[in-house]
Amino acid sequence: MRGRTVTLITAAAMVTSLFATAPADAAMSLGSLAAQRGKHFGAGIDVGQLRDVPYTTILDREFNAVTPTDSMKWDATEPTRNQFNFTWGDRIVAYAQQRNMIVRGHTLVWHSQVPAWTQSLNATMLRESLTNHVTRLVAHYRGAVYAWNVVNEPLDDSGGYRNSFFYQRLGASYIAESFRAARAADPGAKLYISESGAEGYNAKSTGLYNLVRSLLAEGVPIDGVAFQGHVAIGQVPPGIAPNFQRFADLGLDIVISELDVRMPMPRTAAKDYQQATDYSTMVRACLVVPRCKGVTLWTFSDKYSQIPYSFPGQGAATPWDVTMQPKPAYNAIYTTLIGG
Ligand code: G3I
Repeated sequence: MRGRTVTLITAAAMVTSLFATAPADAAMSLGSLAAQRGKHFGAGIDVGQLRDVPYTTILDREFNAVTPTDSMKWDATEPTRNQFNFTWGDRIVAYAQQRNMIVRGHTLVWHSQVPAWTQSLNATMLRESLTNHVTRLVAHYRGAVYAWNVVNEPLDDSGGYRNSFFYQRLGASYIAESFRAARAADPGAKLYISESGAEGYNAKSTGLYNLVRSLLAEGVPIDGVAFQGHVAIGQVPPGIAPNFQRFADLGLDIVISELDVRMPMPRTAAKDYQQATDYSTMVRACLVVPRCKGVTLWTFSDKYSQIPYSFPGQGAATPWDVTMQPKPAYNAIYTTLIGG
């Protein structure tokens, strides 16, 4: 027990010295440092948060990309069949355009946050609605959304197809059809497949690899893979960069699209240091893979993080706390982007 405490303190001291060098008020921002390396550094945001001045001050200073966490999802954009509401998404796009931030669109086809009316459609109507939804969203944001997460979380943990209502009613073909509809609606947008829990080498990432390889062989227009990056402190899987690289070797771009590092509450200094190390490891995996285009945090402040709702008892998952004070994780990311 005593030995364990000593080890913890030593590790904490080492991380402190590693990450203490990045000044919180440095002239460079995470976004500008990432840009120097040809990458974006983004934030998952949503409209309600744009009224929060201490929050938007950090957003405007630190980030050069945004993703709406909820406002472009199916339930938000098409609450009634074929009646579209782009109000919230448009606000985010306008906010980003005024600040020269790129917008990653999220997400066109996901089994969650879908409106109830989709559940009562037969296969023919669902196929028609899916194509219509993808087409209308992508066409509306043509030229404004740089990249889309077209299909989100199509696999289960064993690497097979997730038994979602899309899969049950349409079979696996819904994936290819979604990408084809998106490409037709905006040939200039980068089209990504997005998955959770596939950051390291495991059954899911290998299932994803086999899926994208076969889709590419069929000529399906996929440009990249978005690895979400929801991880728990001390449990960042090994081999992330080589895993990213095998997808890059298929000719695909990579992003980390929803990075957060959750911890069991309450927060402690030792957990903060472990979290800083984990953020650094994740960001470095993107830096060392040339085709990794950037990283997005989900979100950047604990004030708006989804973790306490998705993982009761856990939280403090982002680099800024609820009062917008930076944590060691911020300095760790900063130092890592500098090349430390
Ligand atoms: O902030 C409010 C809080 O004020 C209120 O008291 C509470 C009551 O339930 O809700 C809080 O908002 C929740 C919000 O997460 C917090 O960020 C919403 O209820 C909840 O619906 C919302 O969930 C969203 C979640 O998707 C739904 O599955 C998150 O916004 C969103 O970040 C999250 O994102 C997903 C990605 O789209 C796909 N990958 C997984 C990821 C995490 O689940």
